[in-house]
This record gives sequence, structure tokens and C-alpha cells, in this order.
Amino acid sequence: MGSINSADNRKFQVKSGSAIPKKDVELSAKNFSVFYGLNEAVKNVEIDISKEIVTAIIGPSGCGKSTFLRAINRMNDLIPSVNVKGELNFEGRNIYSGETDVISLRQRIGMVFQKPNPFPKSIFDNVAYGPRLKGISEKDILNEIIESSLKRAALWDEVKDRLKSNAMGLSGGQQQRLCMARALAVDPQILLMDEPTSALDPRSSARIEDLIDELRRKITIIIVTHNMQQAARVSDYTGFFYEGSLIEFGETGKLFTMPSDKHTEDYITGRFG
Ligand SMILES: Nc1ncnc2c1ncn2[C@@H]1O[C@H](COP(=O)(O)OP(=O)(O)O)[C@@H](O)[C@H]1O
Ligand SMILES: [Mg+2]
Repeated sequence: MGSINSADNRKFQVKSGSAIPKKDVELSAKNFSVFYGLNEAVKNVEIDISKEIVTAIIGPSGCGKSTFLRAINRMNDLIPSVNVKGELNFEGRNIYSGETDVISLRQRIGMVFQKPNPFPKSIFDNVAYGPRLKGISEKDILNEIIESSLKRAALWDEVKDRLKSNAMGLSGGQQQRLCMARALAVDPQILLMDEPTSALDPRSSARIEDLIDELRRKITIIIVTHNMQQAARVSDYTGFFYEGSLIEFGETGKLFTMPSDKHTEDYITGRFG
């Protein structure tokens, strides 16, 4: 960690010394819009997101961050009034073309939500959910997946002796790590996180940030956060949304020190939010 000063001399902790590797583009939006009925909540977004990089999406409340994030694994399909326009390409294929198998898309692009949402089932069954859906039923294989996923989510030591207990008995921070383990159990390529720490205490939030750091360079992470300090701490690239448009997108260190757009500068210097 290092720190940088923003234009108005506020300090932001940023990752330093770790040059961002050049990676292939994994996700690419072209003139992509999302509508709720007539309301265009995401407007003509153009973005290329690289593989195995942490990308943060920031911006004021209601600017379309969650809508854009949910569009990436077609979670918006569940809302009847939603329509999209343009392209959202995952590995070169438009996920909104007719051929996409949405179930397998959501296994390859997993999601963790703002409020921890474990199933009211055992810890084991929560993590086994995705693998079972993929047809994995052999006990030894499942045990192995459960253990490795819970380890990746830094929860194993706390729950290994009570895998059969109900997940609802865990603390909020543990529940969120369980949701991460559940998402990781199907080996996603991309993990979408929508304000994953905003319902957590500072200590639990720090653990989630540590997890993001451990997953860096292994999977692609796209995290929505209204916490700019968090965006600066965890991400390699940052996109700033404002009123549905992607105003600016670039390397996190640069966006926070030398934003090229006035709106971005006003937002990161706290003039509105
Ligand atoms: N389920 C929904 N139905 C209709 N409009 C919605 C829905 N969810 C969000 N919106 C609208 O879309 C816009 C963007 O919202 P959202 O993506 O939730 O913003 P953010 O995550 O940046 O706070 C807002 O105007 C919001 O009212
Ligand atoms: Mg939101």
C-alpha cells in the first residue's frame, strides 16, 4: 500500500509497486444501455474490462452502478420491465444474443450482493449448491470442493467443525464470506460484487478486502462501491458512473490523482455524492 494525494490534497491509500499486467479483454460493452420501461438507467456504455484484474465501479446513488453490474450476468432478466440495447460481449460473444445459456453464464460470472444472502440451509449445502446444480454428487468430490472453497473465502477454520449447522446462525461477516465461498465453488471466471461490505462492520469489511486481494490476478473482479477509499484500496481500474453514463474509466491511481473529467474530480473530491 502507498498513498496518493488527490487534487484537493485528500489522502487515498492505493496499491503501489504492483504494475498492472497487460491482460486480454474479457468483457466488452459496446453502446450498451439498460432500460426500466422508458427510463434509461445505463446509457451507451463503452468499456473493456481485462481478465484477472480488479475493476471498481463508483458513482453517486442511483447512477446505474447496480443495474450495469446485474446486466453482466443477466440478473436483470428477473425484472420484467428491463430491456437492453447494444452489446455486452463476454469472451467475444454477446451474452444478450439468443444462444446464451443463462444458468451456465451465471456459474461463469458469479455474484455477491450487498446484503449477505445465504440459503436457510446448512453451511455445507450452501457451498454445495452450485456444484450439485452442475451435476456433481460424489461425496468425496463435494467434500473437497467445500473445503477448498471455504478456504479460499477464509472461512474454513471458523466453520469446519459445524458444516451441518444452519448458515443463518453465522455472523453477518461470516455469512458474506460464505456467499463468496458459494460463488467460488463453481470456479467462476468473473466475480461481481455489489457493495459487498456496506452491511458489514469495519473488521469484517477488511477481511472481504483481503479476500479480494487474494483473488487478484486469479479471477476477474468487478466491485461496485460507494466507498471511494475502498475503490482506491482494492482496484486496479476504476470506472466513474454519473446519471447512467460511464464518464471516466482508467487506472485507479490516475483516476484518483489526475481525473480527466470535471465531474469525476468533483465526485472524488467530495463536492457531491
Ligand atoms: N428494479 C427496478 N425497477 C425500476 N427502476 C429501477 C430498478 N432498479 C433501479 N432502478 C432505477 O434505475 C436507476 C439506477 O439505479 P441503480 O442501478 O440501482 O443505481 P446505483 O446502484 O448506482 O445506486 C435509478 O433511477 C433507479 O431508480
Ligand atoms: Mg446499487
